[in-house]
Amino acid sequence: MYSFILNGKKIEVEKDKRLLEYLRDDTDLTSVKNGCNGEGVCGACTILVDGKKMKACILTISKIDGKKITTVEGLTDIEKEIYTWAFGKAGAVQCGYCIPGMVISAKALIDKNSNPSSNDIKKAIVGNLCRCTGYVKIEKAIALAAK
Ligand code: FES
Repeated sequence: MYSFILNGKKIEVEKDKRLLEYLRDDTDLTSVKNGCNGEGVCGACTILVDGKKMKACILTISKIDGKKITTVEGLTDIEKEIYTWAFGKAGAVQCGYCIPGMVISAKALIDKNSNPSSNDIKKAIVGNLCRCTGYVKIEKAIALAAK
């Protein structure tokens, strides 16, 4: 039996499996995307594990035993409002597929550094690919969210 905190709720799971499938198929947390067939290269499945960003496709339930997991669905109402406003204001959402992972990477950065430089922002989203290549507006959105 494995237990962990998922978006503030204690969860117990009997069988080990890949975390990406668990989140998407067993809990309906569909903000966590499978963008690269689980090869760990696109960042669309980015989540927070004890506040640190990680890729759900390369994790298993057994690896997160006892840890705290946060997906976009688990952000506070105020955080959801801020990121929705900032990404909208910057015009940063095109197809939208990468955005939950981008927001998680932004949160991981801003939670530790409330005044990030443009270089800090670029570095924070290095592992997140945007297939529409809208990086400039995404970086602007993260800067707005930090303010
Ligand atoms: Fe995990 Fe692409 S689905 S990095």
